[in-house]
Amino acid sequence: MGITHVKGPLPGPESKKLLDRWHRVEADVVGFQAPVVWKSGRGAVVTDVDGNTYIDWTAGVLVANVGHCHPHLVEAVQKASAELINNYECANEYRVVAAERLVAALPDHLDRCFFLTTGSESVEAALRLMRRKTGRFEILSFHGGFHGRTFAALAAGGLPGPKRQYGPTLPGIIRAPFPNPYRDPLGLCRGAPDFEHYFNYLDELVLCNSTGALAGAIVEPYQGASGFVFPPKGWLSRLERWLRDRDMLYTLDEVQSSYGRTGTMWALEHENLTPDIVVIGKGIGSGVPVAAVAARSEIFACLKKGEMSSTLGGNPVASAGAIAVLDIMEKEKLAEQSAKLGAYMKSKLQAVARRCPYLGDVRGMGLVMGLEFVKDKKTREPAPELIRPLIEECANQGLLIGAVGMYGNVIRVAPPLVITRAEIDESVTILDNVLAGLKL
Ligand SMILES: Cc1ncc(COP(=O)(O)O)c(C=O)c1O
Repeated sequence: MGITHVKGPLPGPESKKLLDRWHRVEADVVGFQAPVVWKSGRGAVVTDVDGNTYIDWTAGVLVANVGHCHPHLVEAVQKASAELINNYECANEYRVVAAERLVAALPDHLDRCFFLTTGSESVEAALRLMRRKTGRFEILSFHGGFHGRTFAALAAGGLPGPKRQYGPTLPGIIRAPFPNPYRDPLGLCRGAPDFEHYFNYLDELVLCNSTGALAGAIVEPYQGASGFVFPPKGWLSRLERWLRDRDMLYTLDEVQSSYGRTGTMWALEHENLTPDIVVIGKGIGSGVPVAAVAARSEIFACLKKGEMSSTLGGNPVASAGAIAVLDIMEKEKLAEQSAKLGAYMKSKLQAVARRCPYLGDVRGMGLVMGLEFVKDKKTREPAPELIRPLIEECANQGLLIGAVGMYGNVIRVAPPLVITRAEIDESVTILDNVLAGLKL
């Protein structure tokens, strides 16, 4: 169309050559993706090795919030890497400034942070902090939750897929249902703002499963991997109250929901949450490998020197990246942009859903949405078989999308926050056209 341009069927000849070489040497174990070999990116547009251009609704799995290869981020990383790439636990000026800036960007009560490299590593740190601070070992987590693939993070998650055939996971995890407004056979979403039914059930669940050693809970503001499930408004703050009343800690996993994704810098702002610990990843480096755990100083104070460390955490390059991302977020007002453009995009996608018999639900806030595909809008039976052809055909027409979901039937809409209205218009039209030709 205007921005996108794909010649011929995919994979293109250069992509094909590279994919063949790749599969001969690197284990072919990642999820299904369109057969496109990425070469470069600018903003929300990606170009492949065959010169095809696509609009990207993935942001590389909700990472490139400031856009692919933002010049300020590129320059900051280039400058820092020419000076010093790693220094382990020592201070460097970039690390100091990155920590100051991150703490300043966080809600006031979160006055300390610690840098790590991946979201999973930060989740591990948060789980250890909860156990160490309370002296209790049980953790409450949620069905459908995803917190990463390292062992404790995996155990805390509530998706069976990543655990299947690996034997028992970490003991002490107590999982509760997550309220899903689109699929709510147990009525867990009823009764806002008190959600009495839900929290009575939670009391019973804890009574029957806990040995009295619950340290706290870890929860995502919305569940990404299980299909962009947004809990009903008020549930997260009611959960906070429930935890406080029982002297338990509250960890919010904002690995994918922060840095403007939901239309505010932090998803916790939507309900004025005051979690004890926040886990941060993905957007914080917008592609530069950096992650962090943030908490009140009183929580970190339970650790002795040497109890938290990371080979690469806080290195100068990662820290320079984290500073540049904050510069961009603030200067370009990307959280506000996400709220504004997200509302525009959602209304367009809702119009698409009205035309498409299989698009059962369009949900989300800011620039993160889930499109749930079903066989029938009344029965809501999941239609995972539509997803692969949809990903392939969208790529053929110049749109990169990815899939998630407990039932594998949800398309993730999470473009870089710098996506333009023209890019939204063109990409939604591509989706609309592809859906018009899609048959079960
Ligand atoms: C909510 C959440 N927590 C943790 C993680 C793990 O992050 P990483 O893949 O950087 O280890 C993810 C990754 O998708 C995530 O979505």
